Amino acid sequence: MQVFNTVNDMQNWCKDKKRQGLTIGLVPTMGYLHAGHVSLVKEAARRCDIVVISIFVNPTQFCAGEDFTDYPRDIERDLKALEGEKVDAIFAPAARDMYREGYNSWVELEGEITTKLCGASRVGHFKGVTTVVSKLFNICLPDMAFFGQKDAQQAMVIEKMVQELNFPLTIVRVPIMREADGLAMSSRNVYLSDEQRQQALVLNRSLKKAQQLAESGERNAVRLKQMIREMIAAAPQAKVDYIEIYDADDLGDVEEIQGRVLIALAVKFGNTRLIDNLIVEV
Ligand code: PAJ
Repeated sequence: MQVFNTVNDMQNWCKDKKRQGLTIGLVPTMGYLHAGHVSLVKEAARRCDIVVISIFVNPTQFCAGEDFTDYPRDIERDLKALEGEKVDAIFAPAARDMYREGYNSWVELEGEITTKLCGASRVGHFKGVTTVVSKLFNICLPDMAFFGQKDAQQAMVIEKMVQELNFPLTIVRVPIMREADGLAMSSRNVYLSDEQRQQALVLNRSLKKAQQLAESGERNAVRLKQMIREMIAAAPQAKVDYIEIYDADDLGDVEEIQGRVLIALAVKFGNTRLIDNLIVEV
């Protein structure tokens, strides 16, 4: 496993692998790796000759007042988390190398796919994501790139960008990894107090309850959202950012549950904003 800290070194190494006819799988991350990230790495190893994981806390996707400075960073811990995995290269660049002085090139998707859900509460977030992911694609030259269903909207945005801008690669989505008690794994879970951690279990529970109700015949999206809201309100520290139900393919509005719908939520516990989601198919 090799670690690359500069854009040039990483790109040259990847070019060389491509020249040898090897396929590259890229797993973009912001580090502080957990089993969710590792599941992406395992999928990449299963499907590609070479696995590259990027670890970069991307400043341009954080909004003012968000946790960019506090975001957990620990490369030694990340290297340990990857021990025993098939990872050929780690790309951990400095922000000043990714964004040189005077940097001014952006990739931005317009429309409701980036303005609903997290796009509404984190204005400009997806512009930062699409820009950095485009840069990572150009640097690491992947044949496949792996994204988690945990960030369902992000995966959708990236898929649309890849299709519309004709990036020559395939996006693979990987299911959400959860703790044994159902909490979706996230680097931000370390911010939670024991009490908040306990209360956060209501997220997955309320999603599962909504799924059960939908599967047993409830078709009214407003009623399902209301049920989730009431369950979450019972957790004293929970502050709902959004609870929404949209078409799972294009985030179109949904009144009646039909086909594949995405039930997505973002809830704050103290300063920690957690997201979770589930796809219901009826
Ligand atoms: P990060 O939050 O570190 O997540 C990196 C990848 O891991 C994303 O594709 C995310 O969906 C996936 N992931 C996170 N938690 C997961 C879980 N519990 N189960 C399965 N997959 C999970 O998402 C980002 O970083 C950044 O926005 C990035 C794409 C790297 C661009 O900067």
